[in-house]
Amino acid sequence: MTVFNLGSINADHVYNVPHLPGAGETLAALSMQTGLGGKGANMSVAVARAGSHVAHIGAVGGDGLWARDRLMEYGVDTRHIAQSSAPTGHAIINVDQAGENAITLLAGANFDIEEPAIDQALSIGKAGDIFVTQNETNAQEFAVKLGSKLGFRVCYAAAPFDASAVKAVLPYLDFLILNEVEAQQLEAALDQSIEQLDVADIVITLGGKGARWISKADGVDQHFDALKVTPIDTTGAGDTFTGYVLSALDRGLSMGQAISLATRAAALMVTRFGTADVIPDLKEVEEFAGL
Ligand code: RIB
Repeated sequence: MTVFNLGSINADHVYNVPHLPGAGETLAALSMQTGLGGKGANMSVAVARAGSHVAHIGAVGGDGLWARDRLMEYGVDTRHIAQSSAPTGHAIINVDQAGENAITLLAGANFDIEEPAIDQALSIGKAGDIFVTQNETNAQEFAVKLGSKLGFRVCYAAAPFDASAVKAVLPYLDFLILNEVEAQQLEAALDQSIEQLDVADIVITLGGKGARWISKADGVDQHFDALKVTPIDTTGAGDTFTGYVLSALDRGLSMGQAISLATRAAALMVTRFGTADVIPDLKEVEEFAGL
């Protein structure tokens, strides 16, 4: 089976700072590094590192061919990553001493993905494959409608949160993943509780408190504890969680087993500084969690 991911690809410029800068403040960073990122790319790398075949659908500029090459090195199927005339997307990421971050994005080529390219990519999939997207590209609504029509299990990670973007894709979703803040924002935007949404499976990630799974089909509302770790950098932990859940489902694990594994992968991820380049592989996660 394949996980198809319509997702962003960014150059992440990550600054280790004494604290997150305030308005009007000029702050000296302690160190800086540039690496591969983007919520989409992070999820694809996590799916690949967790042991599944993942086809990434996206775009980079001429300045971002290194990012496409790196995704390929990490085991991602990059045939559906186009080269755009726009510059590659990038992110300025400040990470404080407690591992919290503040991110500024420039979408660039991530908003230059053509619908025929999505059509072509998904046409090689088959019913039962997984399709995932987030909110850092264009064409999400087109893609979820197509994925749903083709019988894919359609998943959406509602980040960065935008109420109108979630509303547009919601009718086509089988699986929604969002964090605690995004869940509250969605409830406010829809004037409806999360439990009332007509989505088969919903997972709310709770950071250091774990995760919650709500399943309409199974009548489940279950909490999963997180492993206790000291965070270095929380950037990309949610993306790692999503990639691991989807890979585990793709490999035939139950949703409960998938979430349990993903909470462990995310816990290990927050002990590392950086994004796609440091997402752990399955062996590392199993050793870390004593599985
Ligand atoms: O979720 C973390 C990601 O958000 C970073 O890699 C950055 O590129 C932004 O997309």
